[in-house]
Amino acid sequence: MIKQSKWVRAHTNIAFIKYWGKEDETLILPKNNSLSLTLDAFYTDTQVCFDKKLNKDILFIDGEEQDKKALKKAQVILDLVRKEAGIHEFARIDSKNHVPTAAGLASSASGLAALAGAASLAAGLNLTKEELSRLARRGSGSASRSIYGGFAEWQKGSSDIDSFAIPIDEADWDIGMIFIIVDDGRKEVSSTEGMRRVVETSPYYDGWISSTKEDLIDMKSAIKMQDIVKVGEIAERSALKMHALNLSANPPFNYWSPESIEAMRMVSELRKQGYPVYLTMDAGPNVKLICKASQMEELMEKLLQTFHKEQLVMAKPGPGIQILED
Ligand code: DP6
Repeated sequence: MIKQSKWVRAHTNIAFIKYWGKEDETLILPKNNSLSLTLDAFYTDTQVCFDKKLNKDILFIDGEEQDKKALKKAQVILDLVRKEAGIHEFARIDSKNHVPTAAGLASSASGLAALAGAASLAAGLNLTKEELSRLARRGSGSASRSIYGGFAEWQKGSSDIDSFAIPIDEADWDIGMIFIIVDDGRKEVSSTEGMRRVVETSPYYDGWISSTKEDLIDMKSAIKMQDIVKVGEIAERSALKMHALNLSANPPFNYWSPESIEAMRMVSELRKQGYPVYLTMDAGPNVKLICKASQMEELMEKLLQTFHKEQLVMAKPGPGIQILED
């Protein structure tokens, strides 16, 4: 028998309060709560088919079969779904990443959230958003937040049961993000490895945990007030603290390239010119600018003096996970 899902779409999210450290690596329980904004510009569409004719799980991304390593995170989700639904068939996963440039901004957050949705649908499980968030989390921590549109908070919880994301705010106000895509071709330290190293070796890790609690409280009240300056300031601080942890790890590492630093300088320059623009960065050299959506076009003009058109992508708040009707 074949059990095939409809296509399921999930958008990527960027954290304003970063998740950087695991309490439990197998269950993917984080050390701290995190908070993100789901964005409209990047998303993944996924379909899953459990088929008894298959003799192994297979994963196609944009039509290309992926290797075992890429399949590993996906299989964690498939196995959980099979166990819950009591099915034994292998699965074929088809995924399409929608990214507006060629610069490879495929995201594990949108990918694993869409997979959680599609796999549970194919298996006939009727999961709540909370259960979907828990399932997506087992593939990749940040995916737990992509179940929701707008701002979402991943509450760390203390076990598999109570570690999931909740919606915070629809973000239907004047906020947007410009991505500056910088690819310096280096092999990066994976987020999983980076987190492990800072938790084990950074002398600043306790400070990260205690200050993040305050940042989260301040961020939630700034979001409620729709205060772009406060939201931006706190997000920038959270990102820079995360990157400071990396510099303080043993051995130290960082994700910055010369172009990232140039982009960061531009952000200060734009602020001097009076624009509320703040930066955030994740486990790679790309720089993301948090700004007013209504000023994005104007800011793009300025950024185009330094960066190529292909390096810049504008995004607005995006929706939560959705099943696409044919
Ligand atoms: C820097 O969710 O990719 O983007 O749980 O190991 O799969 P795993 O990590 P992942 O880490 C994301 C880290 C981050 C910050 C964030 O999104 O909160």
